[in-house]
Amino acid sequence: MADYKITLLKGDGIGPEIVNQAVKVLDKTAEKFNFTVEYDEALLGGCAIDATGVPLPEETVAKCKASDSVLLGAVGGPKWDTQPGNNRPEAGLLGIRGALGLFANLRPSVIFGPLKSASPIKDEIIGDEMDIMIVRELTGGIYFGERGRGDDFAWDTEKYSVAEVERIARVAFDLAMKRNKKLTSVDKANVLESSRLWRETVIKVSKDYPEVELNHMYVDNCAMQLVRNPKQFDVIVTSNIFGDILSDEASMIAGSIGMLASASLSGGKLGLYEPIHGSAPDIAGKGIANPLATILSVAMMLRYSLGQPEAAEAIETAVSKVLVSNRTPDIYEEGMNKVSCEEMGDLVCAEI
Ligand code: NAD
Ligand code: IPM
Ligand code: MN
Repeated sequence: MADYKITLLKGDGIGPEIVNQAVKVLDKTAEKFNFTVEYDEALLGGCAIDATGVPLPEETVAKCKASDSVLLGAVGGPKWDTQPGNNRPEAGLLGIRGALGLFANLRPSVIFGPLKSASPIKDEIIGDEMDIMIVRELTGGIYFGERGRGDDFAWDTEKYSVAEVERIARVAFDLAMKRNKKLTSVDKANVLESSRLWRETVIKVSKDYPEVELNHMYVDNCAMQLVRNPKQFDVIVTSNIFGDILSDEASMIAGSIGMLASASLSGGKLGLYEPIHGSAPDIAGKGIANPLATILSVAMMLRYSLGQPEAAEAIETAVSKVLVSNRTPDIYEEGMNKVSCEEMGDLVCAEI
């Protein structure tokens, strides 16, 4: 029996291309660090709709629950945009997050040294390093609230319970304690009642973490501050929808959305790991997608679910070394080797 059982949800668009590279890197890491991995594939998203009529077949949920971790590519694409809302590929993604109870989504925005010149943000603003951890609540808020449609109107509801805010706040405070003990809670408490509850609850939880310096920021200001002075942030905790938007913004500080990994956790060992980007239909099948966000998601899996921190570090170090002279088109700079998705995967393996 293998040491770890991983379910692969390759999904749609560039999903299969990037997951294949990440699997190659995980296999290489397993060989080097003496553990074994067994894979099982399951359908999620548009490919699942095509094969079974629904974006999240029951078999997929069962396979994920029976594994040590899940690696996901991305779902969605124009082919399925005419599906009713509750049968879209994206509904399948929300479904699996809900079914596995993955309420905590960690989205680290880290700039690799060699990529500093690829970031649109000036060097002096980035400073020596940029390392922000966005903690996004993932199974509540407007994504999961009541919604509906009338003849000429539609609604979605942002609703949070104290318990939901409390548990995500604790994840963020715990992370802050292991980092620089600085936490920014982002909300829209000047307008939204749910945000006022969010803020009150975060303040209540903060009493258990007297060493952590807590500040609150409105989301519109935070969007601006991320570009004006990203160094002021260490850990950011925020709601499902604000975290979605702010993490895409933060990805550009790191050079490209193709660089940002994520971990979705439930409090138990099982986690789901995926890049923060989507299925990139505009480049799917061209072999030019950046696989590093998915490869770095494997590193997060090794760290947060599989208890292999050294293997995680080996991947991150290899990525950093490869980036010195090799780039996929999204992070390309003059004078570098322009490489394909597959070549990038091979280079990371060779470095490991
Ligand atoms: P996207 O993230 O797929 O693409 C945005 C832009 O970034 C595109 O120009 C794309 O080419 C580029 N890009 C994304 N990932 C890249 C990579 N690895 N390498 C190089 N370039 C990359 O967002 P979108 O275009 O708004 O959405 C496309 C589809 O993906 C939609 O159906 C959307 O719902 C879905 N989506 C899925 C997920 C997910 O599965 N987690 C996340 C976001 C969007
Ligand atoms: C993400 C994506 C998803 C989200 C969509 C596809 C449901 O944008 O993972 O960031 O909004 O959570
Ligand atoms: Mn998103």
